[in-house]
Amino acid sequence: MPTPVLFDVDTGIDDALALLVATRSPELDLVGVGTIAGNVTASGAAFNTLRTLEAAGVTEVPVAVGVENFLLEPPHDASWIHGTDGIGDTDQPAPRGRPSGEHAVDQLLRLSHEHAGRLVVIATAPLTNLALAMRKDATLCDRLARIVIMGGSAQDGGNKAAWGEANIANDPEAAQVVFAADVPRTMIGLDVTMKVRFDQDDLEALTAASDPVANFAADLLPFYLGAYERVTGRRECAVHDALTVAAVIDPDAFTLRSLPTQVETRGDLTRGMTVVDLRARFANWPVGEQPRTDVALDVDVDRAHALLLERLGVRA
Ligand code: RIB
Ligand code: CA
Repeated sequence: MPTPVLFDVDTGIDDALALLVATRSPELDLVGVGTIAGNVTASGAAFNTLRTLEAAGVTEVPVAVGVENFLLEPPHDASWIHGTDGIGDTDQPAPRGRPSGEHAVDQLLRLSHEHAGRLVVIATAPLTNLALAMRKDATLCDRLARIVIMGGSAQDGGNKAAWGEANIANDPEAAQVVFAADVPRTMIGLDVTMKVRFDQDDLEALTAASDPVANFAADLLPFYLGAYERVTGRRECAVHDALTVAAVIDPDAFTLRSLPTQVETRGDLTRGMTVVDLRARFANWPVGEQPRTDVALDVDVDRAHALLLERLGVRA
């Protein structure tokens, strides 16, 4: 039976890729999408999500707008990497569908009841909706099978700040709530997602495929490739959020370790850092009792890359 999954997104080019991959993954049953501010506003992310799902022929999945403001941090501008509209300034037609009208926090709580014990939440955005849902209903975590997060970094620095990855550093207080919660959790951090990249050859393969999903992905990628090229000098873009979907459908492609993981909220230079206690890789190293997260330390790059391209409609 497919796993029921709820996405929490700030769609975003790589969020869109993650959603497209999910629509083409028979292992998953996409039961809802909640949106939050991040790459664009929460309502802009809903527009982009509906557009993305419609490109994949998916019209029945509810899309709920969530919070527009983080707990403390002001919004940050991500237009340089995702475009002003969040999906590469590709001038997409308006989606036919509309947001459901339910708040993303309420949708999460409702779906946690409807799929109690089985629901997997894939969070590819700041964790504010999730933290507020946990605060609103303290029993939520009892009903979730797992939260899979694109965010943080275990063994390297950040992108929003030297040690702050955007999804965590945009709302460190919310992330702290989620990383301290008593619920199975997987973290696919920036240090791992930066390893799996699409390049010009992948773009050409997506463009050439006779598949609307592949072609929609191809529409979004030139802006993203250009942004990466400007900052790294290489025409290759990391497909961060899509890796969370790969981690659900093919966890063996990742090296995962259960490690104490906390979010720094106070450091002048390290606010928003995920502090992963790597000493705990050694069985007898005394690290004390702290909440643990299944942290990705590595990924089989070729396997994940091939999986994502195949699900997006590129035949080998
Ligand atoms: O740091 C990468 C994350 O930030 C991704 O989720 C991307 O969409 C941006 O929100
Ligand atoms: Ca995102």
